[in-house]
Amino acid sequence: MSPPEQILGDQGRLLPGLGSWNPFIQKNPLRTQYLPFPSPSCALNWSSAVGGQVLFCSSDIVYQRAMVRKRPNILVTGTPGTGKTTTSSALTEATQLHHINVGDLVKAKNLHDGWDDELDCYIINEDLVCDELEDTMEEGGNIVDYHGCDFFPERWFDLVVVLQTDNTVLYDRLTRRGYSESKLSNNIECEIFQTLLEEAKESYPEDIVLPLKSDSIQDVSTNRSTLVEWVRRWQPST
Ligand SMILES: Nc1ncnc2c1ncn2[C@@H]1O[C@H](COP(=O)(O)OP(=O)(O)OP(=O)(O)O)[C@@H](O)[C@H]1O
Ligand SMILES: [Mg+2]
Repeated sequence: MSPPEQILGDQGRLLPGLGSWNPFIQKNPLRTQYLPFPSPSCALNWSSAVGGQVLFCSSDIVYQRAMVRKRPNILVTGTPGTGKTTTSSALTEATQLHHINVGDLVKAKNLHDGWDDELDCYIINEDLVCDELEDTMEEGGNIVDYHGCDFFPERWFDLVVVLQTDNTVLYDRLTRRGYSESKLSNNIECEIFQTLLEEAKESYPEDIVLPLKSDSIQDVSTNRSTLVEWVRRWQPST
């Protein structure tokens, strides 16, 4: 038997350093390495102990045994000021899902590479953020709130909500925050060009990407109802 060329189901990443055929491979929690298991029973014990992923490979078949989430993970994204935190908080109250504000997490746990004076924000360390969240996301039941979406693993999310706000409404909201002229125009441009919607469509299957209007308080309420209903209907994949 020859070694597999690729592990399917894990964003097509190549298996590094597999000189010889390894039937049982453990995905390292740091996401960067794959380690061989000495035996099938060892692989199964590991899987049941940590609820993690074990990838079973043969020369022409690749099986992935991933933990099945019992509750969904939702990503709420959009340009700054479109209402991600407002919407996520409302949804958390109604569903008991766990709200993860990535900006707050980055600050609290120092998951950054310092401060960017020009952009006036922390330089997020995407690998540290993903490593920090991996176990929580595998468990499911999370609402992730962040103004970016292209660096999270695709498999984490069951729904990707992209909030959108009319430019003039957004301009007023961001002005009220006292944003500098350059930060203001960067964000308005981002909204005009629908940057986050494009990013979401490129990073996730289109059928899980849901754009929602977020201009008014009434929109917050409507979106909350839509999303509560989606959570109620969601079922784990078998
Ligand atoms: N749909 C809405 N209608 C009216 N006001 C809103 C709406 N959504 C949010 N707001 C208000 O706009 C401001 C920004 O909202 P919020 O903090 O939720 O945005 P955000 O997308 O989380 O921003 P950031 O990316 O900077 O964290 C808040 O004052 C909030 O009350
Ligand atoms: Mg926010």
